[in-house]
Amino acid sequence: MKKTQQLYEGKAKKVYATEDDRYVIVDYKDDATAFNGLKKGSIAGKGVINNRVTNYMMKLLEEKGIPTHFVEEISQRETVVKKVKIIPLEVIVRNIAAGSFSKRFGVPEGQKLLCPTLEYCYKDDALGDPMVNDSHILACGWATKEELDTISSYALKINEIMQEFFLKANILLVDFKLEFGKTADGTIVLADEISPDTCRFWDATTMQKLDKDRFRRDLGGVEDAYQEIFKRLLGE
Ligand code: TMP
Repeated sequence: MKKTQQLYEGKAKKVYATEDDRYVIVDYKDDATAFNGLKKGSIAGKGVINNRVTNYMMKLLEEKGIPTHFVEEISQRETVVKKVKIIPLEVIVRNIAAGSFSKRFGVPEGQKLLCPTLEYCYKDDALGDPMVNDSHILACGWATKEELDTISSYALKINEIMQEFFLKANILLVDFKLEFGKTADGTIVLADEISPDTCRFWDATTMQKLDKDRFRRDLGGVEDAYQEIFKRLLGE
């Protein structure tokens, strides 16, 4: 399948139309941003790693019964995915307190949560992606009750699958963000990416951060952290 015109350019990816209107091609960039675009930079090799790690995870999740938008990896940075209407929610699952959870609730970073938590943020850069609850989502029509039930049960199942999978690579899955989309026939599928940009990964022995927090917090060793995740998961 070939790219035709560019449909959209986001902070980390470009999306292109194809000759077949059921599919689009995602092209992963090395560009990195944080804090709603306030901090800008580049992480060498990130596009390749995020493309390949995402596709690896999407295939694993499909095998375990989660429908995804994944169709075919066509190059190191490019993947054909089903064209979907993105549900305008960031779905965040947490196992260990960190980031905005620690800041908002005063729970120290690293404290294990007694059960996984599920959060939704309304995807709107101008509003700073505010956290919303189920009733806000239903009242504004961002998803129906049935869709939200599907999304929440997929998110928790994805957490179980990913936690177990990452632990085998000696990585703690601290938290992560998912996005879902709706295909033309109304099926909810997992979309967007699963990568060190969108997950917090800590080495289970040293607690070293192996994700985008190294960029957000100026910790150094950003490229090495992405490479380490790539190596542990794909053996490259
Ligand atoms: P947070 O602690 O900053 O709310 O982030 C929770 C998780 O969501 C973390 O794994 C990083 C991910 N995330 C994104 O993928 N995109 C975003 O824009 C933000 C703020 C967080």
